Amino acid sequence: MATAANRVLVLNGPNLNLLGEREPQVYGTATLANHMDAATSTAVELGLQLDSLQSNSSAEIVNAVHSARGVYDAIIINPGAFTHYAWSIHDALAAFSGPVVEVHLSNPSTREVWRHESVIAPVASGTIAGFGGNSYVLAVQAVARLLASK
Ligand code: DQA
Repeated sequence: MATAANRVLVLNGPNLNLLGEREPQVYGTATLANHMDAATSTAVELGLQLDSLQSNSSAEIVNAVHSARGVYDAIIINPGAFTHYAWSIHDALAAFSGPVVEVHLSNPSTREVWRHESVIAPVASGTIAGFGGNSYVLAVQAVARLLASK
């Protein structure tokens, strides 16, 4: 009997809808749609079903995490600037039982001091940061391994 594919939700926070136009020297020229296409191809290769959502509102991201409970097996999140102060997203993710992988295109640790703290990291299984266009693909690979080793 075929087993249902593991379901993975990718959440993208504020300003990531502007990827491709926004500070290309930091974030590259690929659009968010390009990144989600690459992540989806990797997910399909690994037998995962991937859905994604981008929002500039922390409330929408909190609601999406709540709705993911019992529906998705894992969450990949690039919280954008919410990374550095959105305790509401931290708390929502703490109430999600599957693996959570935090992703950043840039490496916030090498940037301004205010980017050095992540309030998401304490509730993430791990963080992938600084690999530009490869960051989302690496996150999907990490999730596949985490789900396989459950
Ligand atoms: C980011 C890093 C954050 O510090 C920043 O606010 C972003 C993007 C990244 O993907 O590198 O919006 O999450």
